[in-house]
Amino acid sequence: MLSKVWSAAVRGIDGFLVAVELDLTNGLPCVNTVGLPDSSVREARERVVSAVRNSGFEFPCRRVTVNLAPAELRKGGTQFDLPIALGTLIASEQVLPDTPSEGLCFLGELALDGSVRPVSGVLAMASSARARGLRGVVVPRANLGEASAVPGLEAYGVSSLKEAAEVLRGLREKSVEESVPESVQQEEFDLSEVRGQALARRALEIAAAGGHSLLMSGPPGCGKSMLARRLIGVLPPLTQEESLEVTRVYSVCGLLPAGAGLLRKRPFRAPHHTATATALIGGGGNARPGEVTLAHRGVLFLDEFPEFGRDTLETLRQPLEDRTVTVTRLRESAVFPAEFTLVAAMNPCPCGYLGHPKRRCLCSEPVIRRYRGTVSGPMRERIDLQVDLAPLPFGEWGSAKPGEPSSAVRERVLKARAFASRQGRSKPNTLLSPKEAREACRIDSEGWSLLESLSRRSLSPRSLDRLLRSARTVADLEESGAVRRGHLAEAAGFMGKWETL
Ligand SMILES: Nc1ncnc2c1ncn2[C@@H]1O[C@H](COP(=O)(O)OP(=O)(O)O)[C@@H](O)[C@H]1O
Ligand SMILES: [Mg+2]
Ligand SMILES: [Zn+2]
Repeated sequence: MLSKVWSAAVRGIDGFLVAVELDLTNGLPCVNTVGLPDSSVREARERVVSAVRNSGFEFPCRRVTVNLAPAELRKGGTQFDLPIALGTLIASEQVLPDTPSEGLCFLGELALDGSVRPVSGVLAMASSARARGLRGVVVPRANLGEASAVPGLEAYGVSSLKEAAEVLRGLREKSVEESVPESVQQEEFDLSEVRGQALARRALEIAAAGGHSLLMSGPPGCGKSMLARRLIGVLPPLTQEESLEVTRVYSVCGLLPAGAGLLRKRPFRAPHHTATATALIGGGGNARPGEVTLAHRGVLFLDEFPEFGRDTLETLRQPLEDRTVTVTRLRESAVFPAEFTLVAAMNPCPCGYLGHPKRRCLCSEPVIRRYRGTVSGPMRERIDLQVDLAPLPFGEWGSAKPGEPSSAVRERVLKARAFASRQGRSKPNTLLSPKEAREACRIDSEGWSLLESLSRRSLSPRSLDRLLRSARTVADLEESGAVRRGHLAEAAGFMGKWETL
């Protein structure tokens, strides 16, 4: 009295196939699950027993052993309810599977009444079924959008255990894609609403063109948050591949809206400064991805940057460097992607008015030093662009002339990126190694003499490397193969002047 049904689980943001093997033997009625199930899987039996009974089937009065293979990988999630219930029905000969159903992978949580509830991670799990050559997936109806996003895989959306059993018996057609709703690509924030702040707007454009991180410093109310929110709108649209990655992350975290297909918009995450290091980089009891992963392929905006606290900010250095985070839980570790653009904003001092033309700063020098010191030197070395904003003059605020719209800026950004790729650069400039940046820059003698004088004025070798990356982007915006003195000079203006306090 054996049965075997395919299912899947998630590790990190990757799915892997799991064989749900089930054996019915004589003995006291009970359900035993083996094969490294975690507590969420062990709870399946209560739901499965009720769901089977309430769907017009009988739960066998036998000893049920469920084995999840491969045994060495820890398995979590409620998606095994459905395959366990179906395996029980097959082993007890209440359902005779049709031969082609061998190539199907079953995912779904059961409610006590036998209806099927959505689960997280369907996109990742369905992709693993496709990779292993299975024919199709049977998923909760609410997850049909993501399952249908996997090319070459048949998707069946079911709303009850009964319907899933019908798929198994070959009685149901694969779900015809009810035109998967793709999340609309309308950006609600536009740069035309931002007045003045030419320098910061320029920094935002360079950041978008080269994928550079950006730190804005300025008094309250000068437009830092406004600008940060508008970075998404000037970045290139997500590629199909990137869309799949982002959707996978949100699906694994259970943050995909029910019925959603692929996410088409870059994520914008703005955690509050009271967020813990775990919330930012991930981990904790259930090894959840953190904000850096939720911002993958998008923007992580940290407002009131120093308020996050030095220790929390330091934990960001590793993902900024590696573009991934490793989260460890029990004896297993999972790697999550973390390719985000960091945008940070801060006041110049705790009161916010240092350097303000009209208001007096009330902070003492040691207080200012401590405030800025929260953002360590090594942390600042990882932020390519730094810009100081002045308060918005009334004349500019009241001006009838709107700012340049996001669409115009995005066009230049796309042109610069296309130029970079024609030059043979396949990754954003912010990711260039010092050696790659130097090779890509082809600096002439005038440029070298500027670099030399900058280095005499205390720019460290690390800072010079950082300067080359952003100067490369400035030149890309002009579609210039060589990085000239003017490009270097502009990039040098975005290096930050904190050392001079
Ligand atoms: N440069 C600007 N152009 C137009 N409106 C602005 C500008 N700066 C600030 N404002 C107005 O002030 C409000 C607060 O701006 P915000 O971006 O939150 O400032 P900050 O983050 O620097 O404190 C905005 O919602 C907007 O109404
Ligand atoms: Mg703000
Ligand atoms: Zn102050």
